[in-house]
Amino acid sequence: MNVLIIGSGGREHAICRTFSKSSKVDRLYCADGNAGIAQSAVCVPIRPDDIDALTKFALANEIDLTFVGGETPLALGIVDEFESHGLKIIGPNRAAAQLEASKSFAKDFMARNRIPTARYLTANSVGAAVNALERGEFGDKNSPVVVKADGLAAGKGVVVTKNRTDAIAAIDDMSALAGSASEKIVLEECLIGKEVSLLMFAGGEDFALMPPTRDHKRIGEGDTGPNTGGMGAVTSTSILTDEQLREIEDTIIRPTLRGCVNEGMSFRGILFLGLMMVAAPAGDRGLRPMLLEYNVRFGDPETQAILIRLETDFVDICEALLSRESGDITCENADDGLGNPRSSAVSLSDLNIKWSHESSACVVLAAKNYPRKPQTGDRINGVENAASIKGVEIFHAATERTEDGDFTTAGGRVLGVTAVAANLTDALSAAYRAVDKISFSGMQYRRDIGL
Ligand code: AMP
Ligand code: GLY
Repeated sequence: MNVLIIGSGGREHAICRTFSKSSKVDRLYCADGNAGIAQSAVCVPIRPDDIDALTKFALANEIDLTFVGGETPLALGIVDEFESHGLKIIGPNRAAAQLEASKSFAKDFMARNRIPTARYLTANSVGAAVNALERGEFGDKNSPVVVKADGLAAGKGVVVTKNRTDAIAAIDDMSALAGSASEKIVLEECLIGKEVSLLMFAGGEDFALMPPTRDHKRIGEGDTGPNTGGMGAVTSTSILTDEQLREIEDTIIRPTLRGCVNEGMSFRGILFLGLMMVAAPAGDRGLRPMLLEYNVRFGDPETQAILIRLETDFVDICEALLSRESGDITCENADDGLGNPRSSAVSLSDLNIKWSHESSACVVLAAKNYPRKPQTGDRINGVENAASIKGVEIFHAATERTEDGDFTTAGGRVLGVTAVAANLTDALSAAYRAVDKISFSGMQYRRDIGL
């Protein structure tokens, strides 16, 4: 089969590498890719937001399956457009992509479906947001509050503030930082706890969990400095207990997928929960899951750490997702009326997706000055040497190739050095041994990933 992957980062490189391991894939294309991706796929110079050009390309090149990496094409309705031309594509339709594209939509959806989340309020203007704080909606002037731009803002739309003065300053800054994404502002109670990311393959009400992950968003060690797209991620069995996973399934995942079905949203792709594990109320033991946000696609760099552990053929998983009805998945057509999945649909649980070993780690190597204006064009040394270490794979996030075959830096996050092993200590040790073999001018990375 011919497969098209949409995107150009480390996440898309990991997705390409995973598809390239399948014997069912004949031709692999990536729009628009990078120099690492070009080693396993044909890179096509079409931007991920050019839905028209992507549709024409898929039709002309007999693409049998398209996999979307990032949120922008999903929010623009690429799934609806491809399906209207009879093209098979993995991802939520435009309506379901609102779960990520609009924070107020997502919070209202959580409230309607009684999903545990931080108390919130949506303000339609800067003035209304400031008034709400001054009325004491989120406590007194010393209470922390989270300020969020409603729309997609490439990671710049959320500010966790310590008090009302900082929150008002964040609201004032929001339109400069997030532009039209900040026409509505969501204010939220600040939750204290441990953050976890939980991703799953999901189609209708059927889902299969991936290994829980934890990422590191700040540029500096000890979680200091500005936020980035993510400086590293790990997967490990110690991140969530089985009991916590069952609670997340019951209180968050099932109500979410049922809510999508009931509200006529077609969700067939990757659902990514950003969770905060908070202390249970007095008298109860343990931690309780609260949902911070939905993403409707794979995370970057979580994907690199997750997919390096996948043993099941990725095409089989995609086919199980596609065997769910296309268009709106309603209660009626998702089962046979007796609560059993339709006979034509392969359930994700029947597929029994296999994950290797116990743990993995991805350490991001970033360019000088990232996350501000990154320096580009620096020659990268040692990639092949690093990749020869057992259990290590190097995913390219932003690289180019010179005429003499060397890689150079071409963006903020440059490489994701990823390793899998029997436990987290060994995975981290392999990843950092590989990192030590790579160098480029101004290279930045965190030494404390997974700690
Ligand atoms: P989001 O894009 O909604 O995931 O927010 C980005 C980051 O802001 C999250 O990963 C959290 O670290 C933080 N955050 C978001 N909402 C809250 C909240 N209600 N309480 C505390 N931290 C939050
Ligand atoms: N690493 C966070 C994200 O992809 O949203």
